[in-house]
Amino acid sequence: MQIKSVNLETVCGITSTLPENDKPEIAFAGKSNVGKSSLINGLMNRKAYARTSAQPGKTQTINFYNINEMLYYVDLPGYGYAKVSEELKAKWGKMIEKYLRTTKQLKIIFLLLDIRHEPSANDKLMYDWIVHQGYEPVIIATKLDKINRSQKDKQIKLLRTGLGAKKETKILPFSALTKQGREEIWDCIEEALGF
Ligand code: GTP
Ligand code: MG
Repeated sequence: MQIKSVNLETVCGITSTLPENDKPEIAFAGKSNVGKSSLINGLMNRKAYARTSAQPGKTQTINFYNINEMLYYVDLPGYGYAKVSEELKAKWGKMIEKYLRTTKQLKIIFLLLDIRHEPSANDKLMYDWIVHQGYEPVIIATKLDKINRSQKDKQIKLLRTGLGAKKETKILPFSALTKQGREEIWDCIEEALGF
């Protein structure tokens, strides 16, 4: 897909009303620091339009990026960030939950996991919860550049087993550094949106 325009159109905090968008949405979920905002930049062909940080907990709002006046990327706050209070964590969780429960335009939900690590209890909860809401998440295994090529298949298996994901569940490896895997993610988006 050729990116002609990107615009951070809506930023929702804990007390904001979520927008009722009239274009398809693609959401990015995953724990803090896993690479959600970096993947979004990669899929916008922008270096740093979505703010990223080595410090977890960078994205603290739900951000809707209007792409080509055609669709939205929805950057969700990361879960499992230890340094915020339990109260704030619960509020973010509620906000993500509310979004997933109320959106009418969500066409794909990408759940991001670090390719190096076994899924955490929170990852598993998120996966189960997404499935429970009736969505079929696509797993993105991030930070592909951090492992040797020879480890890839083994790590993907580890993610699948750890999540208890179905055989059909897509797991797509991606590196924000090398952009490896981007084409496969585009294909997945185009297929879901019928482009
Ligand atoms: P929160 O907003 O805190 O939830 O984090 P996030 O999931 O949006 O992560 P973000 O994109 O900000 O990336 C976190 C850190 O990981 C940054 O330092 C990124 O540069 C780094 N990072 C993200 N993706 C990759 C990748 O594919 N490879 C490597 N080497 N680093 C990555
Ligand atoms: Mg972020």
